Amino acid sequence: MQGVTVVDHPLVQHKLTIMRDKETSTAGFRRLLREISLLLCYEVTRDLELTTRKIETPLEVIDAPTLEGKKLVFASVLRAGNGLLDGMLDLVPAARVAHVGMYRDHETLQAVEYFFKAPSDLANRLVIVVDPMLATANSAIAAVDKLKERGATNLRFLCLLAAPEGLERFRAAHPDVPVFTASIDRNLNEKGYIVPGLGDAGDRMYGTK
Ligand code: PRP
Ligand code: URA
Repeated sequence: MQGVTVVDHPLVQHKLTIMRDKETSTAGFRRLLREISLLLCYEVTRDLELTTRKIETPLEVIDAPTLEGKKLVFASVLRAGNGLLDGMLDLVPAARVAHVGMYRDHETLQAVEYFFKAPSDLANRLVIVVDPMLATANSAIAAVDKLKERGATNLRFLCLLAAPEGLERFRAAHPDVPVFTASIDRNLNEKGYIVPGLGDAGDRMYGTK
């Protein structure tokens, strides 16, 4: 699908398999999500532009590569987005962070917003929205709508699992936002869960149910 990158690195796929396993503990699930987020972050930032700056090594002065432009923004869709966010901040510690509080109403599957806090100058920054699950895409579409409303123009969406139906809806709603995922699963079940999936990401991360 155009605008969709599946990160098929063997380490990502191996870790994802352990995360899908229902026997994996809460602690194990959280640790793996953090580990995978490092690898996904590497892919989603692969084409960032570089400029150079003059530095002096102990031996000589050189023009050395450095990231161009303003600091990135990672926008975490709460709660489960925080599982990806932590590892991404390990890799890009200077990134700014936006929090988008959103939950799925279990009956209607509509996204309900309960919190929003973001840097004020989103317009000039690359905003990488993170949420492990793209199911119906209601949450992802609403999160990106909100960030665009607040000025973001350059966005990417990073998840762990996507349902084909959700991907199609998201790309139709936001064709300018490329999606990065570790897997496109088979479909959504009648309750809007991704199958085979990994269950409820937030519950598995935090031991709630
Ligand atoms: C999960 C997930 C996404 C959303 C995906 O969050 O983290 O935000 O569902 O489903 P959708 O594509 O159908 O909108 P949830 O609503 O369970 O909230 P939580 O992270 O607080 O558990
Ligand atoms: N949210 C989840 O956490 N898991 C799913 O399978 C669908 C939505």
